[in-house]
Amino acid sequence: MAEQKATNVHWHEGDITRAHREKLLGHRGATLWFTGLSGSGKSTVAVELEGTLHEMGILSYRLDGDNVRMGINKNLGFSAEDRTENIRRIGEVAKLFVDAGQIALSSFISPYRADRDQVRQLHEDAGMDFIEIFVDCSLEAAEARDPKGLYKKARAGEIKNFTGIDDPYEAPANPEIHLHSDKQSLQEEVEQILAVLRERGIVNK
Ligand code: ADX
Repeated sequence: MAEQKATNVHWHEGDITRAHREKLLGHRGATLWFTGLSGSGKSTVAVELEGTLHEMGILSYRLDGDNVRMGINKNLGFSAEDRTENIRRIGEVAKLFVDAGQIALSSFISPYRADRDQVRQLHEDAGMDFIEIFVDCSLEAAEARDPKGLYKKARAGEIKNFTGIDDPYEAPANPEIHLHSDKQSLQEEVEQILAVLRERGIVNK
């Protein structure tokens, strides 16, 4: 848990609440938390889903590993400590999007179970607001894809602590959604996610 450094700070409630914003938008806010190996297809599914949701008139926003690491988290690397802080900050940002009534699509390796659980607990209604999506893909398949050429570098010892090679990945034990990106089509994956969003009453279209 990160330490609360600032003292004498007070939460300020406004007049317009999450419920007002959700009514305006016509759907609930939620965090869809994609987790999986580098190259497993987290971002690809998130991008496809974002397009589908947009066409349905549903407001979503993507938070993506590489992009976020070039901005808000540019001071973090890949040590266990930095990965934990990376996920904690993203969790807080995702929570803000949920409060804004939007659907946060968050794709980070997020290799540690405890970090993902902490983000779940951070949410106002952990059981409703946070949906963990395991983008399951064998290391062999992810490595064969190697979209950024990073597995090749990791195998050659040019990148240290690379997830799946010489750094751990803790698969979710009970994800709300389990995708098999090395076997399913992109469309099947998107449909599987949409079905859960409808089932939970997050979207009603
Ligand atoms: S996380 O572990 O903290 O969740 P995150 O998703 O933000 O990782 O970033 C992962 C991306 O950073 C990978 O897709 C890859 O492009 C790049 N990367 C660079 N070095 C590493 C590394 N050592 N381990 C994993 N990914 C790395």
